[in-house]
Amino acid sequence: MSKKIFSGVQPTGNLHLGNYLGAIKNFVDLNNDNQNECIFCVVDLHAITVKQDKDQLKNNIRETTATFIASGIDPSKSIIFNQSKVHAHAEGSWILSCMAPMGWLNRMTQFKEKAGKDKEKASVGLYIYPILMASDILLYDATHVPVGEDQKQHLELTRDIAHKFNKDFDCVDFLRVPEPLIKKDFSRIMSLKDGLKKMSKSDPSDLSRINLTDTKDEIINKIKKAKTDSFSLPNEEHKLKDRPEAENLLGIYSSVLNQTLDKTLEEFGGKNFSDLKSQLAEVLSSKISPISDEIKKLINDKNYLDKVLAEGANKAEEIAGKKIKEMKKIIGF
Ligand code: AMP
Ligand code: TRP
Repeated sequence: MSKKIFSGVQPTGNLHLGNYLGAIKNFVDLNNDNQNECIFCVVDLHAITVKQDKDQLKNNIRETTATFIASGIDPSKSIIFNQSKVHAHAEGSWILSCMAPMGWLNRMTQFKEKAGKDKEKASVGLYIYPILMASDILLYDATHVPVGEDQKQHLELTRDIAHKFNKDFDCVDFLRVPEPLIKKDFSRIMSLKDGLKKMSKSDPSDLSRINLTDTKDEIINKIKKAKTDSFSLPNEEHKLKDRPEAENLLGIYSSVLNQTLDKTLEEFGGKNFSDLKSQLAEVLSSKISPISDEIKKLINDKNYLDKVLAEGANKAEEIAGKKIKEMKKIIGF
């Protein structure tokens, strides 16, 4: 069956191995399947839910675009564009925010994590962030949305909003209810410094993550310094319980090589972390360094990146513009 794919990544810099293995690698596989229609969005409106530096934001939009292309997304096959260029996203977000009850939003755990202790100071945008995400997805009649595990709740909200709109306005199937595409295994890559914390752009320690722009030497050094425990590696999955660092490094190795965790456990069972680390550093640098080199090359070609985004925005506008028109008509505007 042909799928309509939509996903987004925030242009907030430091794209890392978690973004790659949790999301972008899947985008590439979906892009490579000729049956699919794919749209990948640089979600710059989402980025401004927290304060951004103007010049930095501009660079990050281009860098995220470069990362998509360097990872293997082909702009002649998939639409790549930045969200702020297509008006319908913000307009749709307003309409949907008038449908979605506050109680649904109050359940969102990511807001609680991001807003921290002082919720009164968080922006209203951060609070309604998942509604903008719903607007992104629903405007394109997306059937499938590839994301990392942390976005599962936002996808469920999107589905609920679609159902509610269709019911409230008596327009069965007008908003298509999308399916999440979340990899079963390794959908959550953890920090190299703490196996209980998600690998994240915003972690103050650069040693906690492998950035997609890291050099070979940086990758080797970060893997060398990654946290371990003091036991040898087990040969069975259930023995990874309470060993988050071992689980994470073995998971990363498996995911990069597209092999099962069982196979990796077979390979390393009974060995020391140092054996795993040297193999992992090699596998990672051979996979990530070419992407890193390509990002650095592309980032210098601003005209090319801007052209990809402009062409993508024209195509996206055609689809989303039509949908928002229909949506407004249904409401009574
Ligand atoms: P963001 O950069 O927050 O817009 O995230 C972009 C994509 O990367 C989303 O699909 C996230 O679910 C995914 N992602 C972010 N961090 C991780 C992680 N540590 N492990 C797996 N996926 C992640
Ligand atoms: N909220 C997502 C994240 O932080 C990014 C995002 C915005 C997105 N709009 C989307 C993902 C639409 C999938 C579909 O990772």
